Amino acid sequence: MARKKILTIVGARPQFIKAAAISRAFRAFPDIEEHIVHTGQHYDANMSDIFFEELGIPTPKHRLELGGGSHGQMTGRMLEALEVIFLDEKPDAILIYGDTNSTLAGALAAVKIHIPVIHVEAGLRSFNRKMPEEINRILSDQVSELLLCPTQISVDNLKAEGIENGVHMVGDVMHDATLFAIDKTKSNTDLLDKLGVKDKPFAVCTMHRAENTDNPERFDKLIAFLENQAQDRPIIFAVHPRTRQLLAKRGIVPKGLQLIDPVGYFDLHTLLQHCDLVLTDSGGLQKEAYFHRKPCITMRDETEWVETIEAGWNRLWTADDWHGKRGTIADYGLGDAADLCAGLVSDFLKTKQ
Ligand code: UD1
Ligand code: UDP
Repeated sequence: MARKKILTIVGARPQFIKAAAISRAFRAFPDIEEHIVHTGQHYDANMSDIFFEELGIPTPKHRLELGGGSHGQMTGRMLEALEVIFLDEKPDAILIYGDTNSTLAGALAAVKIHIPVIHVEAGLRSFNRKMPEEINRILSDQVSELLLCPTQISVDNLKAEGIENGVHMVGDVMHDATLFAIDKTKSNTDLLDKLGVKDKPFAVCTMHRAENTDNPERFDKLIAFLENQAQDRPIIFAVHPRTRQLLAKRGIVPKGLQLIDPVGYFDLHTLLQHCDLVLTDSGGLQKEAYFHRKPCITMRDETEWVETIEAGWNRLWTADDWHGKRGTIADYGLGDAADLCAGLVSDFLKTKQ
């Protein structure tokens, strides 16, 4: 059997987590030879290496150091370096995840030299083109040949843009990743002890999105919102380096918030398992809150993950309350999304000579 070579492009924290689930699923497909390319968009040990270690992600074959800088600088540097790798490796396809600058750079570098692009987490839309992520997703979807969607709404979004070929709904690979983490973290309560929240109510918070951190007035409002929430229960805030830099630069010390460095995936799931509330602007955490059946307040003005709002588990910070009775979300699947993706990738590669 002729093996097909696939290059997986990752660079940011949520991509390591998604790639871990699919790399694991690829092991059942001997016809696929996968190599990982790490752009270096995220580079601190607790934003990168920890996920490779905890989740057993194969060591990247190519490790670039292209983090930092403006959007144009970062994407441009990645585009140039990835093209060199693609020309040398001659993969049968490349695999991209989500909506970061690494996603777009991978997609553009590949399509221009006629290498097929496979996009996992295709079709998400916030309909806010001021978000860098929205531009990255729209462009990546336009040039992808195989589009693996987490929800029916994401399939419908693609249809509305005229993209129907190669589109499949597979469920959410973050659900698979969460089930894997829950299995590993069942009895780990050392962290809760360390943070002084064992058997106590507390909330978990993360915030890093450009739309929240780039605008000082909005950032101040969000911090005030969190300080207000902290009057009901302590908030453990795992601070992304971008937000840490901003707090330091502006000399802000939020009241009632316990600031900690970013934690590994298993520790984050320990916190989710034991908390009472999630406060976040993260795409991943909105769904992980639901997977743990914890209410979530999303600190954004819209979300791509509208199912979580409709099912009553998530609400925007501007809304007064959650939306009715809490329900389940069938679209996210049964934890088999990564297996479905791997099967579809294998079938897709068979069509390429
Ligand atoms: C990026 C993605 C965002 C995603 C997030 C996941 C884009 C446009 N944005 O945002 O969609 O939700 O990753 O976490 O791709 N930094 C460090 N150490 C690191 C990583 C970042 O210090 O390991 C600092 C650097 O100063 C860097 C800044 O954070 O310039 C922003 O990092 P960047 O990757 O540009 O954007 P994120 O906010 O992480
Ligand atoms: N996460 C983590 N440690 C942290 C904060 C987040 O492991 O300190 C995980 C979280 O569980 C989720 C993913 O990182 O799976 C989300 O990444 P992020 O919020 O950076 O990006 P987004 O999902 O918004 O693109």
